[in-house]
Amino acid sequence: MMHHHLIANFKMNLLDSEIRSYISKLSQSSVLRKKRPDHLHIGFAPSFPYLQSCRDQLTHTLAPLDLYAQNISEASQGAHTGEVSAQQILDCGARGSIIGHSERRSIYHETPETLVKKINILKHLKMRAIYCLGEETSDLSDRDLDYLLKDQVKILKDFPPTQLIVAYEPQWAIGTGRDAAPQHIHKVSTYIRQHLDTAFGSVEAAGIPILYGGSVNARNLSSILDLDHISGALVGSASLEFDHFNTLIELFIDANL
Ligand code: 13P
Repeated sequence: MMHHHLIANFKMNLLDSEIRSYISKLSQSSVLRKKRPDHLHIGFAPSFPYLQSCRDQLTHTLAPLDLYAQNISEASQGAHTGEVSAQQILDCGARGSIIGHSERRSIYHETPETLVKKINILKHLKMRAIYCLGEETSDLSDRDLDYLLKDQVKILKDFPPTQLIVAYEPQWAIGTGRDAAPQHIHKVSTYIRQHLDTAFGSVEAAGIPILYGGSVNARNLSSILDLDHISGALVGSASLEFDHFNTLIELFIDANL
């Protein structure tokens, strides 16, 4: 059975008191009391300082919720002032990390070589990677788009497929309110699925969830979840307000995935 994920990426938002109040409301939410099949997963990626308190609070929620970091260091330990290692986020309760988010690629100039180092560290620690990929502009030809995705998937080939979640996040749709059309998401997720098949073999690749991210909200989530190759969503701005994300959780659970 394919696993589906709804994951909140808080980015560099919310303070300790806000996150505590959010999780406390969530733990009392009737949505989480609904019967949820085991293959539907809900997760959060707060900033580093709040991982541990989220972990402590999440243990009191009725349903298991997944905790992720938004990034890890490319080094496993040592003299790297200001960096946070995968082992440290694991120690704080995270089961994996977002890797290669377009904001890290564009603002912090992360290269494929950097991403390979991070992926290898997660692999050795048996942690999950939520690997983000996608195009920067909306005007790429199909051929160029396919070529780009092939290149972005290629670096995953030695990563264990059972630890992998892929997130298709077109950069032009992130934080812009300009979500990609379902036809576009379908086309791109079909390309991604084909490249995953090539990298891992179709049997292994079949279990790798592909999420969509980029201006997801309560208006567009259900039609995105309806798409053949899409197994969930990575949500930025619409996850910051508890009420809004709670509605997304409800839509996710009701989507009969
Ligand atoms: P928005 O939902 O704000 O567009 O952000 C998407 C994203 O970057 C999730 O990782």
